[in-house]
Amino acid sequence: RDEPLVLGIETSCDETGVGIVRGETLLVDAIASSVDLHARFGGVVPEVASRAHLEAMVPTIQRACDQAGIALRDVDAIAVTSGPGLAGTLMVGVAAAKALALSLGKPLYGVNHLAAHVAVDIVEHGPLPEPVLALLVSGGHSSLLLVPDVTQDVRSLGSTIDDAAGEAFDKVARVLGLPFPGGPHIDRAARDGQIAIDFPRGLTSGRDMERHRFDFSFSGLKTAVSRWVEGQRAAGAEISVPDVAASFQEAVVDVLTRKAILACQDNGVEHLQIGGGVAANSRLRAMAQARCDSAGIALRVPRPGLCTDNGAMVAALGAQLVAKGREPSALDLPADSSMPV
Ligand code: KG4
Ligand code: ZN
Repeated sequence: RDEPLVLGIETSCDETGVGIVRGETLLVDAIASSVDLHARFGGVVPEVASRAHLEAMVPTIQRACDQAGIALRDVDAIAVTSGPGLAGTLMVGVAAAKALALSLGKPLYGVNHLAAHVAVDIVEHGPLPEPVLALLVSGGHSSLLLVPDVTQDVRSLGSTIDDAAGEAFDKVARVLGLPFPGGPHIDRAARDGQIAIDFPRGLTSGRDMERHRFDFSFSGLKTAVSRWVEGQRAAGAEISVPDVAASFQEAVVDVLTRKAILACQDNGVEHLQIGGGVAANSRLRAMAQARCDSAGIALRVPRPGLCTDNGAMVAALGAQLVAKGREPSALDLPADSSMPV
């Protein structure tokens, strides 16, 4: 019972997440999503998301405390995502966290969203191996991180130079007439498809690979899919949505897993963790497992609900910061939309 009880708040995009963690144990992960409000725009609208966070914040905190069977005054610390993310939505979470910390007289910990995606696996699979290599793939980010210590040393090896992996899924889904967010729909459609079309693998060969060994590029792939679909339509040919979905998905997953394993090998790291919304992708999980098995790398992937944005990840990192005696943030903690890791 002497393990720290930490409440974490996440508002970097469209999910209002409130998680409560005791030490390395998840007590509750409450979430309110505004994703349905954005569907008709085909993407997250920052202003709409900010308003939704403001409305959802207090009820979601209350629901989290009720479900965990705790009172707010019981918590030892408040953690909050202070960046990176949408400036306006981050501010709602940071303001709420400051108000709680100030009124309860408890320490405030501003945390990095990407580091929190890594830390969440502690509540799923126990303490993180040090170092661990993390592949974070979502609608907002696609990064390879070398993580010697998630509380203070997270190094970016590379990231996308254009679209995020999830963004590519969403854009290709749109081309194929599938609803937003498109990732799960492509995943499902691809199960009935053949990998029949050889779409490009960005930044994987020649000079591109030399200069961008651990970076990703998905906008060329998206354009290639659009062109292919347009070409078929212009020729009056039938388009197999499952085949296009499977071929596109294979190209993305091939690049992600290839570079992630190369990053492990280059850095002598024996543990790979995958996080972010795209980690829910069934083909990514299968290919990562197969390639890790052949390379002798242990794979850790939290359950899908903990891979997408949530409050538990923020609470999980907050609990580590408290346990390791790290310095809390000042009460004038800013929201930093472009925070580096
Ligand atoms: O982490 P997340 O919930 O939010 C952020 O973007 O930060 O990730 C959402 C993204 C969306 O682009 C969505 O299409 C994608 O994750 N996604 C998937 C799958 N499930 C969600 N992409 C591919 N396959 C999936 N099964
Ligand atoms: Zn995220």
